Amino acid sequence: MKIVFGCDHAGFEIKDAVIAHIKEKGHEVIEVGTFSSASCHYPIYASAACEKILSGEAELGILICGTGIGMSIAANKHDGIRAACCSDCFSARLTREHNDANVLCLGQRVLGIGLALDLVDAFLDATYANSGNHVTRVAMLKDIEEGKL
Ligand code: RB5
Repeated sequence: MKIVFGCDHAGFEIKDAVIAHIKEKGHEVIEVGTFSSASCHYPIYASAACEKILSGEAELGILICGTGIGMSIAANKHDGIRAACCSDCFSARLTREHNDANVLCLGQRVLGIGLALDLVDAFLDATYANSGNHVTRVAMLKDIEEGKL
Protein backbone atom coordinates (compact mmCIF):
# COMPACT_ATOMS: atom_id res chain seq x y z
CA MET A 1 0.00 0.00 0.00
CA LYS A 2 0.94 3.63 -0.30
CA ILE A 3 0.96 5.22 3.15
CA VAL A 4 1.18 8.95 3.69
CA PHE A 5 3.08 10.03 6.79
CA GLY A 6 2.94 13.39 8.53
CA CYS A 7 4.00 14.74 11.89
CA ASP A 8 4.69 17.98 13.72
CA HIS A 9 7.74 18.80 15.88
CA ALA A 10 6.21 16.79 18.75
CA GLY A 11 6.16 13.68 16.59
CA PHE A 12 9.55 14.25 15.00
CA GLU A 13 11.64 12.09 17.38
CA ILE A 14 9.98 8.81 16.41
CA LYS A 15 9.27 9.79 12.79
CA ASP A 16 12.22 7.98 11.19
CA ALA A 17 11.69 4.77 13.17
CA VAL A 18 7.98 4.69 12.28
CA ILE A 19 8.67 5.34 8.58
CA ALA A 20 11.40 2.68 8.50
CA HIS A 21 8.98 0.22 10.11
CA ILE A 22 6.23 0.93 7.58
CA LYS A 23 8.73 0.43 4.74
CA GLU A 24 10.01 -2.81 6.30
CA LYS A 25 6.43 -4.08 6.14
CA GLY A 26 6.59 -3.65 2.37
CA HIS A 27 4.66 -0.41 2.03
CA GLU A 28 5.61 2.74 0.16
CA VAL A 29 5.74 5.93 2.24
CA ILE A 30 4.89 9.43 1.04
CA GLU A 31 6.23 12.00 3.51
CA VAL A 32 4.51 15.36 3.83
CA GLY A 33 6.66 16.76 6.65
CA THR A 34 7.53 18.24 8.99
CA PHE A 35 11.19 17.75 8.15
CA SER A 36 12.83 19.33 11.21
CA SER A 37 12.33 19.51 14.96
CA ALA A 38 11.48 23.23 14.79
CA SER A 39 8.13 24.17 16.29
CA CYS A 40 5.36 24.05 13.69
CA HIS A 41 1.59 23.72 13.34
CA TYR A 42 0.02 20.27 13.15
CA PRO A 43 -3.04 21.27 11.02
CA ILE A 44 -0.71 21.99 8.07
CA TYR A 45 0.64 18.44 8.04
CA ALA A 46 -2.72 16.82 8.77
CA SER A 47 -4.20 18.63 5.77
CA ALA A 48 -1.27 17.78 3.50
CA ALA A 49 -1.63 14.10 4.39
CA CYS A 50 -5.41 14.08 3.97
CA GLU A 51 -5.05 15.63 0.52
CA LYS A 52 -2.88 12.70 -0.55
CA ILE A 53 -5.57 10.26 0.58
CA LEU A 54 -8.46 12.18 -0.93
CA SER A 55 -6.62 12.51 -4.26
CA GLY A 56 -5.99 8.76 -4.32
CA GLU A 57 -2.21 9.11 -4.11
CA ALA A 58 -2.19 7.27 -0.78
CA GLU A 59 -4.53 4.68 0.65
CA LEU A 60 -3.96 5.22 4.36
CA GLY A 61 -2.24 7.78 6.56
CA ILE A 62 -0.25 7.86 9.79
CA LEU A 63 -0.05 11.17 11.66
CA ILE A 64 1.97 11.87 14.79
CA CYS A 65 1.87 14.87 17.10
CA GLY A 66 2.35 15.21 20.85
CA THR A 67 -0.93 13.57 21.84
CA GLY A 68 -2.31 12.48 18.48
CA ILE A 69 -5.42 14.50 19.29
CA GLY A 70 -4.68 17.69 17.36
CA MET A 71 -3.83 15.66 14.27
CA SER A 72 -7.05 13.65 14.57
CA ILE A 73 -9.23 16.74 15.03
CA ALA A 74 -7.60 18.41 12.02
CA ALA A 75 -7.80 15.28 9.84
CA ASN A 76 -11.47 14.66 10.67
CA LYS A 77 -12.36 18.15 9.37
CA HIS A 78 -11.81 16.73 5.84
CA ASP A 79 -14.75 15.06 4.11
CA GLY A 80 -13.86 11.45 3.40
CA ILE A 81 -11.30 11.21 6.17
CA ARG A 82 -11.96 8.93 9.13
CA ALA A 83 -9.09 9.47 11.55
CA ALA A 84 -8.67 7.61 14.83
CA CYS A 85 -6.33 8.58 17.65
CA CYS A 86 -5.34 5.30 19.29
CA SER A 87 -3.12 4.23 22.16
CA ASP A 88 -4.20 0.57 22.35
CA CYS A 89 -3.84 -2.08 19.67
CA PHE A 90 -7.41 -3.36 19.96
CA SER A 91 -8.76 0.05 18.97
CA ALA A 92 -6.18 0.47 16.22
CA ARG A 93 -7.32 -2.82 14.67
CA LEU A 94 -11.04 -2.28 15.20
CA THR A 95 -11.04 1.22 13.77
CA ARG A 96 -9.95 -0.29 10.44
CA GLU A 97 -12.32 -3.26 10.67
CA HIS A 98 -15.45 -1.41 11.84
CA ASN A 99 -14.99 2.30 11.04
CA ASP A 100 -12.97 1.92 7.84
CA ALA A 101 -10.61 4.49 9.36
CA ASN A 102 -8.13 5.73 6.79
CA VAL A 103 -5.86 7.66 9.16
CA LEU A 104 -4.17 6.53 12.39
CA CYS A 105 -3.07 9.30 14.76
CA LEU A 106 -0.47 8.66 17.43
CA GLY A 107 0.88 10.72 20.33
CA GLN A 108 4.64 10.65 20.69
CA ARG A 109 4.35 12.12 24.20
CA VAL A 110 1.88 9.38 25.15
CA LEU A 111 3.52 6.31 23.63
CA GLY A 112 6.88 4.59 23.66
CA ILE A 113 8.33 3.62 20.29
CA GLY A 114 7.53 -0.07 20.90
CA LEU A 115 3.82 0.58 21.35
CA ALA A 116 3.79 3.08 18.50
CA LEU A 117 5.11 0.41 16.12
CA ASP A 118 2.64 -2.19 17.42
CA LEU A 119 -0.19 0.29 16.84
CA VAL A 120 1.01 0.83 13.28
CA ASP A 121 1.03 -2.96 12.76
CA ALA A 122 -2.46 -3.38 14.21
CA PHE A 123 -3.82 -0.64 11.95
CA LEU A 124 -2.04 -1.55 8.71
CA ASP A 125 -2.56 -5.30 9.04
CA ALA A 126 -6.32 -5.01 9.61
CA THR A 127 -8.96 -4.90 6.87
CA TYR A 128 -12.32 -3.16 6.75
CA ALA A 129 -15.11 -5.70 7.38
CA ASN A 130 -17.18 -4.10 4.57
CA SER A 131 -20.37 -5.89 5.57
CA GLY A 132 -23.65 -5.53 7.46
CA ASN A 133 -24.09 -2.76 9.99
CA HIS A 134 -20.54 -1.52 9.51
CA VAL A 135 -21.34 -0.46 5.96
CA THR A 136 -24.57 1.20 7.11
CA ARG A 137 -22.79 3.13 9.84
CA VAL A 138 -19.86 4.25 7.70
CA ALA A 139 -22.40 5.45 5.09
CA MET A 140 -24.02 7.45 7.90
CA LEU A 141 -20.70 9.17 8.54
CA LYS A 142 -20.83 10.32 4.91
CA ASP A 143 -24.43 11.48 5.51
CA ILE A 144 -23.16 13.68 8.34
CA GLU A 145 -20.54 15.20 6.02
CA GLU A 146 -23.27 15.94 3.48
CA GLY A 147 -25.58 17.50 6.07
CA LYS A 148 -28.16 14.73 5.71
CA LEU A 149 -27.91 13.49 9.28
C1 RB5 B 1 2.59 20.65 20.26
O1 RB5 B 1 3.19 21.19 21.38
C2 RB5 B 1 1.36 19.86 20.62
O2 RB5 B 1 0.37 20.69 21.13
C3 RB5 B 1 0.84 19.11 19.42
O3 RB5 B 1 1.84 18.28 18.94
C4 RB5 B 1 -0.34 18.18 19.65
O4 RB5 B 1 -0.12 17.37 20.76
C5 RB5 B 1 -1.66 18.78 19.65
O5 RB5 B 1 -2.67 18.08 19.75
